Amino acid sequence: MRTPIIAGNWKMHCTPAEGVALCRELLPLLPAAKAQILVCPPFTALSAVGTVLTGSEVMLGAQDCFWKEKGAYTGQIAPHMLREVGCRAVILGHSERRGRFGVPEPDFDAQILAHFGDSDRTVNRKIKAALAAGLLPICCVGETLAERQEGRTDIVVKRQTAIALEGLSAEQAAGLVFAYEPVWAIGTGEVCAAEEADRVCGVIRSAVGEHAAAAAESVRIQYGGSVKPDNAADLLARANIDGALVGGASLKAADFAAIVAAAG
Ligand code: PGA
Repeated sequence: MRTPIIAGNWKMHCTPAEGVALCRELLPLLPAAKAQILVCPPFTALSAVGTVLTGSEVMLGAQDCFWKEKGAYTGQIAPHMLREVGCRAVILGHSERRGRFGVPEPDFDAQILAHFGDSDRTVNRKIKAALAAGLLPICCVGETLAERQEGRTDIVVKRQTAIALEGLSAEQAAGLVFAYEPVWAIGTGEVCAAEEADRVCGVIRSAVGEHAAAAAESVRIQYGGSVKPDNAADLLARANIDGALVGGASLKAADFAAIVAAAG
């Protein structure tokens, strides 16, 4: 039996004070859950939010990290720095961080991905560095609308999964969390049908099995993309879906608590 994991990805929302207020509202609403619960505030709110979470069952996570331990990398944060402020997990390879540099300026804001240049290879490096620092990596994979329309969904998620796992032992692979996040479903209100989300999570599970057969049954796979209280139960009941990565709804304490409750 895999323990479900429900994670809130706050993205670029919440100052330290706002994050503290959100968690103070959230904690009393949370049911006695069998799920692991994680909130991932922006870097600047990690310490303050971590203080409020102390003694609760909610874990603290970050939204990205770099793969080097220290050095001349302006603006970057090393995994061990996240550990030291209380993080237990880190989201890596989110679609909002993957993609090309060099998007022409007039189109830049219109890009729904392609912000920060993460690639399958840099995500692999970040996963290894996070594991070395004792963080639980949540590796996001998922196809764009164009890739889905071209019938390339399975090819894309298999490639992203395989490269994410390169150089990892079977034990490390088994302990990872993947998040299947179809890019077209993120922040759009257009949730992927539960049956299809379950099928693609099964494709990711098989890809993990191709890397290390023993890891396929243990690896946990979340679904993410417009998860809300009213669709969470259907998604979370599926055989291959072991949790949710929640964006917008994680900023509303009652909604996030309801999604946790839907995990059973
Ligand atoms: P959403 O975001 O729930 O707002 O669609 C999910 C995510 O990007 O992790």
